[in-house]
Amino acid sequence: MKLRRLRQNSTLLNLVSETRFSVDELIYPIFVRHGINQKVPIEPMPGIFQFSVDQLSYEIEELRILGIRSVLLFGIPEEKDSIGKEAFSQSGVIQRAIKEIKRIDPAMLVITDVCLCDYTDHGHCGVLNGDYVDNALTLPLLAEMAISHAEFGADVVAPSAMMDGQVGAIREALDQQSLELTSIMSYSAKFASGFYGPFRVAAESAPQFGDRTSYQMDVANRRQAMLEIQQDIEEGADIVMVKPALAFLDVLHEAKQRFNVPVAAYNVSGEYSMVKAASENEWIDGSRISSEILMSIKRAGADMIITYHAKELASIIGR
Ligand code: PBG
Repeated sequence: MKLRRLRQNSTLLNLVSETRFSVDELIYPIFVRHGINQKVPIEPMPGIFQFSVDQLSYEIEELRILGIRSVLLFGIPEEKDSIGKEAFSQSGVIQRAIKEIKRIDPAMLVITDVCLCDYTDHGHCGVLNGDYVDNALTLPLLAEMAISHAEFGADVVAPSAMMDGQVGAIREALDQQSLELTSIMSYSAKFASGFYGPFRVAAESAPQFGDRTSYQMDVANRRQAMLEIQQDIEEGADIVMVKPALAFLDVLHEAKQRFNVPVAAYNVSGEYSMVKAASENEWIDGSRISSEILMSIKRAGADMIITYHAKELASIIGR
């Protein structure tokens, strides 16, 4: 068979392409910080900023024009403490951001990260008992955070703390508050990865001691990732996630084969920073490489992709 027959021109190539993108599948992460009139560049993530709530309108309008309809919010609070109180405060930065985004663009889908690490002074994803992150003490706080986001208008809450039982605790709490229609996108297979480095600069959330290996997954484990996902589905996750994406495409692929719920992939900060650094040095063609990476994530099985490249990709797809 002469396989080159179908490679003669771009029309033919497009006709037989097995993997196609749509901007509908892209989710754009946004960092929202305290203060006013702030648009703070994140050094290791060129093109990405922390915005204060009053600065969101230009960003949301730009996304609307590009056709990006979903955002994932992370908060940088004014004050951090041992239990991350601002995470569930009525005047918290995310609570205000949700309201503001819905005011600017009521149809924008708002997904919120539900984890304490941005809000705790020690930078861990849950409450400490000595030096250990305590699962039982953390669950009610995550549930309270999720309820608060949902009450302020979040469409989807995304627990990322990797506490056992977090999805069940959040689902039960939401249902009790008559928030049955709020969906859960669970960071189910979230690995203890070096690829989150730039995010921790962006969210000012690096752990002040130790690391996250006692709660996030060991990068060696694929079978265990299936167990994490299965449990989250049983506990009520509507969408499951594999994170990071690029170094875990095998996990993503297997998850897609096995489970009958939508699977999200998170193309994380370190994956973005590597592309940006190399392309700023003109060592690679940044937009070509980011498209190729996104294609690989899609091909591996992602139904939706959270990516800092979303805006660039939307303009490429739109062409
Ligand atoms: C919060 C959280 C993290 C990321 C998403 N949610 C950081 C972490 O676990 O340390 C990382 C996202 C990225 O690197 O882009 N727990």
